[in-house]
Amino acid sequence: MAEAFNDLTLSADREARYAEVAAEIASVLDGEPNLTARMATVASMLAASFDHYFWTGFYVVDPAKGDELVVGPYHGTLGCLRIAFGRGVCGAAAATRETQLVPDVHAFPGHIACDSRSASEVVVPVFGPDGALIAVLDVDSDQPAAFDEVDARWLEKILAATFG
Ligand code: SME
Repeated sequence: MAEAFNDLTLSADREARYAEVAAEIASVLDGEPNLTARMATVASMLAASFDHYFWTGFYVVDPAKGDELVVGPYHGTLGCLRIAFGRGVCGAAAATRETQLVPDVHAFPGHIACDSRSASEVVVPVFGPDGALIAVLDVDSDQPAAFDEVDARWLEKILAATFG
């Protein structure tokens, strides 16, 4: 019972913080069209807002290849430079165009360990104004099962508002 109550409290706190940071991001980026500036700001502001975030950043679709991601603005330890569509969690999000919520990265087939401390992650596809996939946002935690539907839905909402 106490545990269920704590989960609910945590979830409500998380919702409230996402609502605040969504408004802060929109306000900071108002009038700024540059994509790199927008991605860098989103990564920085999200990383600074949540204790369960360990690595926060974008992998962008490489226009020269079309089916490969290349690292973009991020906040955290050194990330892998390139990820093919279909490889690991980021590659799965890019190939399926669907959010990947992974409670245990070690149980995910083909997971790419850029930093062995990553234990769970959520990866959300990012679409441009014309609906084309432009990037994925990868958020890793050093805690297992750190992300839930609250993270997934709010990240989708923030990314749609910022890049769609
Ligand atoms: N975890 C990702 C790789 C990127 S890094 O962890 C920064 C994946 O398997 O897609």
